[in-house]
Amino acid sequence: MTTTGVQGTQGYAEEAEAFIARADGVAFAEKHAITLHLTPVAPARVLDIGAGGGHDAAAFAAMGHRVVAVEPTPAMLAGAIARHDNPAISWLDDSLPDLAVVSARGEVFDLILLSAVWMHLDAVERRRAMPRIAALLAEGGVMILSLRHGPVPPGRRMFEVFADETIALAEAEGLRTVLHEHRGSIQEQNRRAGVTWTILAFSRDCGRHPLGPAATP
Ligand SMILES: C[S@@+](CC[C@H](N)C(=O)[O-])C[C@H]1O[C@@H](n2cnc3c(N)ncnc32)[C@H](O)[C@@H]1O
Repeated sequence: MTTTGVQGTQGYAEEAEAFIARADGVAFAEKHAITLHLTPVAPARVLDIGAGGGHDAAAFAAMGHRVVAVEPTPAMLAGAIARHDNPAISWLDDSLPDLAVVSARGEVFDLILLSAVWMHLDAVERRRAMPRIAALLAEGGVMILSLRHGPVPPGRRMFEVFADETIALAEAEGLRTVLHEHRGSIQEQNRRAGVTWTILAFSRDCGRHPLGPAATP
């Protein structure tokens, strides 16, 4: 198990190739069926945080979006770049909770995806991360976040995170909850092991962005 480096990434470097192969075997439309209607019309600005092997980032780019894909596990990032060398995707070595590299770019995004990432942060990191992520969401933008529940794979750092806590953190940043679903895993082996997922989506309604002129009294 990795003992140094970014908190939350433990266990990924060792099995990056196998993880990416498994992730590539899951169709984007099936994985994101519950939230597909929230995906903005292209071309939009998409931020994929904890992008893994880049499967989702590549799918968004293929739809005509411009994507910033953040991944702190070097083996994952290298695998993603090797598979998805697309000028519409900017690959960044950055991490939660601070997202220092992304934040320094001064961009905001129409869609922010945290697919299977948030439960890798502990409570202190989650409180620190949410304001930073929310500040990156454009007016009218949507943030989609999934939380894994059930047995923790060996070597991983993962916490049981409840939807209510995540909703409270997001709403404290002026975001509105637009989707809250719970479902079984779509991966057969995980479903049999009792893995379930909470899927949440939040919107930044126009006039409520803390950095935008409309929010100025
Ligand atoms: C279960 S994988 C999900 C990958 C991809 N989002 C997907 O849905 O296939 C979790 C990813 O989160 C990344 N990760 C872990 N801790 C992180 C952190 N502190 N900041 C950003 N990403 C992190 C891991 O390196 C890994 O690639």
